Amino acid sequence: MSEQPSSREHWGTRIGLVLAMAGNAIGLGNFLRFPVQATQNGGGAFMIPYFCALLCLGVPLMWCEWAMGRLGGSKGHGTTPGIFTMLWKHPMAKYLGLMGIVFPLGVVFYYNYVEAWTLAYAVFSATGKYFGIADVAGMKGFLSTFQGASSPLGVSLLGYVFFLITFGINVWILSGGISKGIERLANIGMPVLFLFAILLVIRVFTLGAPDPALPENTVVNGLGFIWNPDFSQLANSKVWLAAAGQIFFTLSVGFGAIQCYASYLREKDDVVVTGLSTASANEFVEVILGGSLAIPIAFAFFGRTETLSIAQGGSFNLGFAAMPIIFQKLALGQLLGMMWFFLLFIAGITSSVALMQPLITFLKDELGYTHRKALTATAALCFVMAHVVIFGLHHGTLDEIDFWCGTFGVALFALAETLIFVWIFGPDNAWAEIEKGAQVPAPRIFYYVMKYVTPLYLLVLFVSWTWQQGPAVLTMEGVAPADRVWRWGARLAMLGVFLGLCWLASRSKRLKELTEVKP
Ligand code: PHE
Repeated sequence: MSEQPSSREHWGTRIGLVLAMAGNAIGLGNFLRFPVQATQNGGGAFMIPYFCALLCLGVPLMWCEWAMGRLGGSKGHGTTPGIFTMLWKHPMAKYLGLMGIVFPLGVVFYYNYVEAWTLAYAVFSATGKYFGIADVAGMKGFLSTFQGASSPLGVSLLGYVFFLITFGINVWILSGGISKGIERLANIGMPVLFLFAILLVIRVFTLGAPDPALPENTVVNGLGFIWNPDFSQLANSKVWLAAAGQIFFTLSVGFGAIQCYASYLREKDDVVVTGLSTASANEFVEVILGGSLAIPIAFAFFGRTETLSIAQGGSFNLGFAAMPIIFQKLALGQLLGMMWFFLLFIAGITSSVALMQPLITFLKDELGYTHRKALTATAALCFVMAHVVIFGLHHGTLDEIDFWCGTFGVALFALAETLIFVWIFGPDNAWAEIEKGAQVPAPRIFYYVMKYVTPLYLLVLFVSWTWQQGPAVLTMEGVAPADRVWRWGARLAMLGVFLGLCWLASRSKRLKELTEVKP
């Protein structure tokens, strides 16, 4: 078997690895998606299923993915088509593994565009461009003009220019490779992100009740909304699905992106402690920092009812419409606004490079492409496909791709990977793989969680989803006919990407070698 582990790149330092992995996980999901999901699903009602999903899905899958990635990397296979085939010597395994390339791609097709908005808004804040727009309705109007709602192509010139800049920066970073590109970005970006987030949280906590006439509108009430457990909603399966979906998205598990980063570990590197510390860093940033920004500050300025209705109105309203109104009311508002949006930009870019890297790694490892060729092919695909989202934004293509790749797909992929790693490879082998090189042994209870709870949990999620929402989603119930065309276009484009990758995988000699029985 041709093995190329010796020539494989590695993370430069342990702290760099931790920051890069934390950067992978900490993203727009922590600061934009989490508050909206929590608000839409009843605050305190959401947090109980959220922590259940963290313990039963997030943490065990995180360890599995780190261990799988390190194992694959040691044999020169850094993505799941190769890793699955190593664990399950079946010709189908590589096609299942392709999900771990397609789903991150699907997400990045829209993620780069949203990341571009954050960069644009950082500039708009610094220059005071939206200052003077007095209410949320006005800011929503500003946002949708920026997003090109009234332009004939569905995109504004400014929005497009910022997309090009953002995309260019992503490609530039990826051109540096693992330690000189991604790791360097994380080493600089993550400390800035932490600093900005902490400064903003301090500002929020010192707000009190900004309007003495409305003493109910306080930061504390916003925090209470998230942290007072509400048991009445626990029978609502929608909340459980949303919570599991958020755990996957925020930790980047169930995508294939963690395996890819972990494939650049050294064979003796620890997985248990390092994996857990990056997951903990993500959770700290999400529930402590992320949870202390958008929701509490919106509660203080708009009150409970209006905050809930802003969050219900769309995923981006809280971050891009409500926050800018608040910045205008604060001293040093331009600076605070710039910090908020630049923080989002850093969170975004350290994740978007992680979403593109799997395809690059796949092309290099399994098809022998040079770094340059792999990057060019990946960038070209991502650039072209981003236009499905850019032009179709107002017809729901973002939501369509997000649903299939970021929600439905990851649950499916997570189920496939647990079955392959824990059940086919064998629970004891899987556990030994996780424990290898561990600085502290993983709590034994997770052996059983991994073996029984995780797959069952995923199965139940699937069945209840299919039962409750499957038919309506599949048939696009309630979607306007003009939008259906766009959404079908997005589905077919994603299918095309998947089939194209199947064709490439079928031609890979390195993948074929894995299933050949050696004499
Ligand atoms: N975890 C990232 C976020 O919270 C998104 C992401 C998903 C990144 C999957 C990489 C892989 O925004």
